[in-house]
Amino acid sequence: VRKTLLVANWKMNGSLDLLSQMHEALLAKSYSGVGIAICPPFIFLPQTQNLFKDSQIAYGAQDVSDQDNGAYTGQISAKMLSQLACDYVIIGHSERRQYCGETDKIIAAKCQRALDAGLVPILCVGENATQKQNGETEAIVLSQVRSVVDSLTTEQLEKLVIAYEPIWAIGTGLAANPLDANKVHELIRKASLQTTRILYGGSANAENIREFLMQPNIDGALIGGAALKPEVFVQMINISEALCTKVY
Ligand code: PGA
Repeated sequence: VRKTLLVANWKMNGSLDLLSQMHEALLAKSYSGVGIAICPPFIFLPQTQNLFKDSQIAYGAQDVSDQDNGAYTGQISAKMLSQLACDYVIIGHSERRQYCGETDKIIAAKCQRALDAGLVPILCVGENATQKQNGETEAIVLSQVRSVVDSLTTEQLEKLVIAYEPIWAIGTGLAANPLDANKVHELIRKASLQTTRILYGGSANAENIREFLMQPNIDGALIGGAALKPEVFVQMINISEALCTKVY
């Protein structure tokens, strides 16, 4: 069984106020079939822990250092995140690959650190518009997945979550076609495990989430813009709960 997972990626957005609003909106109901996690900026994680620690809502960070500790000014280690009882950490988001020069090698090291500290890495992969036009989607996505998956033990791999996020769909309002996305998810599944949860990301919203989750290989979503609006995020959760978990 792969339990559906919805993850909010706030990126460099939000505030303590939004966190309180989200808390109020999310705790107004109970959850059964769907896992929910919010990933606010690092600075809000202590307050996230205070608010959500005894709830069914998981939380995590948007990045982690590839180093264990030491003279790495500004970086935050996996062990530090686990001290705040984070469950998840997003790793290798395309914005970090693009703006912070993260390579597959660094991303693999980050996943390893996260797993060593007991966190669940959410590994992000996806092609850009040019690569898509050139028919390189499969090759790009598979090489991004393999560069992490091949360095993990089966036990570690069982914990990994993967998010397929076509870069051209992120923040553009142009979500992928769910059938096309499902094909990429199928490839990712072949390169990972039958049990691996593979999320879709890229302009997922309350209007399209149902169609994505109806695909056999799409196990949830990594949600940016739509997850900054508590009422929209809750709406997406409600739609997902009505569809629920995939049995394979
Ligand atoms: P979006 O972002 O939902 O705003 O497109 C998704 C992501 O980048 O994780």
